[in-house]
Amino acid sequence: MAFHPRSMQNRKFLIAALLLVTAAYACRETRAQAPASLRINAGNPTTPVSPTLYGLMTEEINHSYDGGLYAELVRNRTFRSDWQGVSSWYIMELGASSAAMQVDKTTGPSAALPQSLQLKVTRADRSSRAGILNEGYWGFAVHPDTKFRGSFFARTDYAGKLPVQVAIVDNQSGKALSTASVAVDGNGWKQYSFELTFGSEVQTSVENHLELTFDRPATLWLQLVSVFPPTYHDRENGNRIDLMEKLAGLHPAFLRFPGGNYVEGTHIEDRFDWKKTIGPLVDRPTHESPWSYHSSDGMGLLEFLEWCEDLKIEPVLAVYAGYSLSGEMVKPGSDLEPYVQDALDEIEYVTGSTDTQWGKERARDGHPSPFRLRYVEIGNEDFFDKSGSYEQRFAQFQRAIKAKYPELQLIATTPVKESRPDLVDDHYYLRAVDMFREAAHYDKADRTGPKIFVGEWATREGTPTPNFGAALGDAAWMTGLERNSDLVVMAAYAPLLVNVNPGAMQWDTDLIGFNTLTNYASPSYYAQSMFASCLGDHTLESSMTGAGDRIFYSITASQAAHKACLKIVNASSTQQPIHISFDGIGNSVPVRIETLKADSTQATNTITEPDRIRPISSSMTMSQGQLPYVLPGYSIQLFEIDLTKR
Ligand code: AHR
Repeated sequence: MAFHPRSMQNRKFLIAALLLVTAAYACRETRAQAPASLRINAGNPTTPVSPTLYGLMTEEINHSYDGGLYAELVRNRTFRSDWQGVSSWYIMELGASSAAMQVDKTTGPSAALPQSLQLKVTRADRSSRAGILNEGYWGFAVHPDTKFRGSFFARTDYAGKLPVQVAIVDNQSGKALSTASVAVDGNGWKQYSFELTFGSEVQTSVENHLELTFDRPATLWLQLVSVFPPTYHDRENGNRIDLMEKLAGLHPAFLRFPGGNYVEGTHIEDRFDWKKTIGPLVDRPTHESPWSYHSSDGMGLLEFLEWCEDLKIEPVLAVYAGYSLSGEMVKPGSDLEPYVQDALDEIEYVTGSTDTQWGKERARDGHPSPFRLRYVEIGNEDFFDKSGSYEQRFAQFQRAIKAKYPELQLIATTPVKESRPDLVDDHYYLRAVDMFREAAHYDKADRTGPKIFVGEWATREGTPTPNFGAALGDAAWMTGLERNSDLVVMAAYAPLLVNVNPGAMQWDTDLIGFNTLTNYASPSYYAQSMFASCLGDHTLESSMTGAGDRIFYSITASQAAHKACLKIVNASSTQQPIHISFDGIGNSVPVRIETLKADSTQATNTITEPDRIRPISSSMTMSQGQLPYVLPGYSIQLFEIDLTKR
């Protein structure tokens, strides 16, 4: 039967149906809207909150450093090659010129880089230049009014000075946006520097490449071709400014580095061998990362430490502990001793005065003052070592490190029985529903054992970056961290960064997305930034009644900062009325509210639409300690309560 609303019978039916739907909806709303009650006692501090609760975890994954945070623009600057040729480099034969390139294994500028690229130009003139080009990491980002600094190592068989032109060239038009000339002279290896300037007429763009060409027959050997844009704090060999600013926006207290799997390597020889990552770039041999691409090691041990210095945060140093991802293991005892010594040397490099061997080395590398170090992690995820050797490996590292550095706090990567670590590192990678459950994980945990470092955690929903459903899981989980921060003294989301260009990602669900030009924050980023922006030094006595099972909260306060930080997560789709009462505060108290919300768990931000979900600020006044409020559906909120007039 066809349905026609104009017939009387159908009209009656329609009205009845509408009444039914309205009644059902009202019923549902009434159920959802039964008010909850949250009572907080400002006069009763309960447990301490760690000032280092929120930090960063980092490793080379998803092109986090090469093609990411590490600002180098030249891809494969050391001319590695495979059966497909020298990756990212191409020969250029303009006009009637003729040239060829190959890797020359017989000559290079250093013991670490004993090979080079031989560029043989057999025919060229002023109108027919020849040379090579580099495609960069998905292009070269160029901005108006900027300057690039570059250098390369070279030698030539040319009798006089060989004028090599360096240029950043627009991929589409073939026009040079900036050029520099470098005169290479002589058959011995030397380093040459240049600058590329971009005027105000230059447009911001990314589809550019680098060219090195010359206009006469000659052979040129090249190694370590490097080009840097301006960097954060203007550091040489430094980091991308936009990404460092994003990291600072998370209000972190520490940086856990260099992994993760990256510290272990797939095989023992691929571990993060810190001694090969320090000093001039020409003395760094580079190495294979477990995340399926080669690492330039431009981000070496000192660069990690300077990253901490730049963000005013403390390092949490992970040392290689004799286990690699393929299952290769160094036997505890004499076999392990060189690795233990390496860890002791590494700690000396970080903390030693310039009178010590490795402190002196750090000074030679440009950083005479030592770094403050409190935490050292022994390995990564050693529960994967099914031989059970971690008990002895951990104990061997612990004995040696504590003997020389008794003040250091040592972190075990899995519980051990034969010795007592200061902290144990727990990792969580779960779906949102599991994170809701795990938010209570530490509520009743034993407080007599080691402290907990949650060195990696994430709600894994959404790719390349978490969606709003994941942010709800993350926020619920963080309420549990704050409530239990007498036990959980540090925690870090992982992975932190993902290059969203095609083929760059190895791991779904990463906190911050970026491409060659720009970056964006995921909803989880904003949730974490909000939580870390307001954190007291103790929790307050509190209780909640009448709320649905998808409401999570935490309440911390700081006497010194005169504020309380209430976080409430409504992970259900419906709004929740709530009556918040705060005992022991003044009559008229300003409350600043940050709200992050979405209409669907699938809602998210992307590189092209970075601002769909972002925190909105508002304010209210709490009168006589009472705050009647309605929590929006799918919302994460921070209430910063001013206790100045208490
Ligand atoms: O964060 C990605 C990986 O997950 C880390 O490298 C490893 O520690 C964990 O298994």
